[in-house]
Amino acid sequence: MALREIQTLPAQVLRRKARKVKDFAPDLQALIDDMVETMRQAPGVGLAAPQIGVSLRVIVVEYGEDLEDGRPPKLYTLVNPEIIRYSPENEVGIEACLSIPGFAGDVERSLEVTVRGQNRRGKPVKIKAKGWMARIFQHEIDHLDGILFVDRAKKVWRIEGETAQIAPAD
Ligand code: NI
Repeated sequence: MALREIQTLPAQVLRRKARKVKDFAPDLQALIDDMVETMRQAPGVGLAAPQIGVSLRVIVVEYGEDLEDGRPPKLYTLVNPEIIRYSPENEVGIEACLSIPGFAGDVERSLEVTVRGQNRRGKPVKIKAKGWMARIFQHEIDHLDGILFVDRAKKVWRIEGETAQIAPAD
């Protein structure tokens, strides 16, 4: 495993539509391992492959939603993810991004989403997510289409010393 350099604006790779993954060979496994390591080290709660300069449809998400229960955060690796259902209810929350250091913004997202994709071995998976998890999936999957939170934000402001990719509202 190795840490990869996180690409920040104005890196062009962040604005490109990423390619679909067709090959689940060792190269992909190494990429995913590196993404997990890079996300944890940042630290962040999610990372998309374009953020480390690889224009492929892969995301990793690890959010400690259940920390209060003493349960460790669950790690999700999704290849070729797509959102197949958006709840009609939306919610505004504060987002930031490792690729846009020093900024945060208010972004309206669907409160619940259903995501379909493949796991790292190519097996089909479907995930229903709510609240912050749903927000993180929407943010990361946007990265695969070259969309950044600032494109969707109602308001963007400067922050200091904030490194988490998506900061809880409080
Ligand atoms: Ni981001």
